[in-house]
Amino acid sequence: MKKLCTVFLLLVAAGSLVFASGGGQKSSGGSQQAALIGIAMPETHVQRWQKDGASLKRFVEARGYRAEVAFGDADQNRQNTQIQNFLTNGAKVLIVGCVNDGVAAAITDAAQDKVAVIAYDRIIPQSADYDYYITFNNFKVGQFQGQGIETALNLKAADAPKYITLFAGSPTDGNAAFFYDGAMSVLNPYIKSGVLQVVGPYPETSKDTANFQRIATENWQAPVAKTRMENLLNNDAAAVVLDAVLAPNDTLARAIIEACLADAKYTAKLPVVTGQDAEADSTLSIKSGQQYMTVFKDTTKLAEAAVLLAEQIITGQAINIPGATLASGDLASIGNTGKKTVKAYLLEPILITKDNWQVPVQAGFYTAEEEARLK
Ligand code: BGC
Repeated sequence: MKKLCTVFLLLVAAGSLVFASGGGQKSSGGSQQAALIGIAMPETHVQRWQKDGASLKRFVEARGYRAEVAFGDADQNRQNTQIQNFLTNGAKVLIVGCVNDGVAAAITDAAQDKVAVIAYDRIIPQSADYDYYITFNNFKVGQFQGQGIETALNLKAADAPKYITLFAGSPTDGNAAFFYDGAMSVLNPYIKSGVLQVVGPYPETSKDTANFQRIATENWQAPVAKTRMENLLNNDAAAVVLDAVLAPNDTLARAIIEACLADAKYTAKLPVVTGQDAEADSTLSIKSGQQYMTVFKDTTKLAEAAVLLAEQIITGQAINIPGATLASGDLASIGNTGKKTVKAYLLEPILITKDNWQVPVQAGFYTAEEEARLK
């Protein structure tokens, strides 16, 4: 006991126990535990989610709450079990980046237990059982991808047709539709005028579900995109030289680049390939002139904002998230779950090319190891 007390005092002296001014404090007698916040992330095969999970945990603990983090391995049943565990453990708020709409049942259980849920980055579709969503302006992410292609191929001044092939993210992730529609809002006029020619399926928007399905990448899996690119290179694109590939994120962009590099036509000059997430490997690729662009979404800021929102919910304060805009007007649909419109708080993405790849580095976005690789 004496030993335990000494350890406790040492921890306090070292400042490693943080007492928040909100509702997260523990009573000194230890009888009352700090509130638990459950953090459910969808997957780890896309690097960003590991960073999101770590940042969320760090911000939760810094505010004096307890955190439990789980990754769903792109399997909604698994994530639902993880959410059930958070509920069993008495979580007060859940921060959920879901896998797909199969999450709705678990969110209903949370609502029955009076546990508030924050949809994190991805909307929780087909649910009326939660009120808050925090994400980026995902239409703008797509617009940046379209603008990247527009600039790189100088489409405004192009006289000969340029060839493009289109990829989208997971058909079960609502964000994938926003990214695609944002990109196509820039590219469709060039396709209509014949300046851009699409090789392979061409959904004008994500609402053309049959064609969207054909260009979508189940669960954002890199091997799926790589195989599809290889097939395109050997079939639809065999007779042309592609000028651009619309790739929805960095993980898929690198898989597509890998497929292109195995084709003699592209070893000297790759098509313009887009991305998003500013993953260190892609920022390196941009720096070395392979991937053309990415979109930096400062997920450290997203995590910080989500935890602030969680604290305001727990303590019953008015919701006020500095740095985020409450979606309204044209953007209000970002919060439409299909069953109701939740309050959607949006952070701003940043377009990154070879000219400003240092921006995420300067924002402190990378780990020390990643930063060292980017030097
Ligand atoms: C996120 C992207 C991510 C993708 C794959 C999307 O919902 O917004 O940042 O690249 O999922 O995990």
